[in-house]
This record gives sequence, C-alpha cells and structure tokens, in this order.
Amino acid sequence: MGDRFSVLIQDCDVRFSCEAGDNLLRSMEALGRRGIPVGCRGGGCGVCKVRVVEGRFHTRKMSRACLSEQEEADGVVLACRLFAESDLSLQVVGKMVKALRTEQG
Ligand code: FES
Repeated sequence: MGDRFSVLIQDCDVRFSCEAGDNLLRSMEALGRRGIPVGCRGGGCGVCKVRVVEGRFHTRKMSRACLSEQEEADGVVLACRLFAESDLSLQVVGKMVKALRTEQG
C-alpha cells in the first residue's frame, strides 16, 4: 500500500510517479503531465492506448471493442485501466486523437 512507481513515456521522455492504487492516466493528469492522450477515462474509447515495454502491471476490465486480443497479447493496454506494480516504461500507441477531432469538425 502506498507504493509509488516511476513511469517513463518513451515517446516524449516524460517521467512521472504513480501511486500503486491509481490508474496511470489519472496519475499523469493529476501531476499536470502530458504524453498519453486522454479520452473517456473509463476504458471505452481506446485513445489512451499504450504498450508497456518494461515493468509489471495489472489492468481492470478493458473494452474488447478498443483493444484486440492480439494487442493485449502484445503488451498493449489502456492507460486509464492500467495499474503499476513496478517502475514502467511505455510507448504511446493510441492514434485516435486525430480521428476524434475529425468527428467533431
Ligand atoms: S481514456 Fe478512453 S479508454 Fe482510456
């Protein structure tokens, strides 16, 4: 309990700390950090998709509509459903930010 882990977003070299009980996306936002696109925050849109390159973690329920079994087998997870169990290194995978903007326009 109360453990803190260091999270590195490799794409932009951003590092932030994450408490064991907080999902990664929330921790990043709480610290005012950027790097992972933020969407629904609830595991349903797939915008926050990342690949865990290094480290241990667990996830909560993720929508199969935005994360295929193949992706999951590949270490790809939704950051808003991701809980660190050690220090982590990530790469951003979600490429839906542009698509969302287009929908609004
Ligand atoms: S922000 Fe929508 S799935 Fe994570």
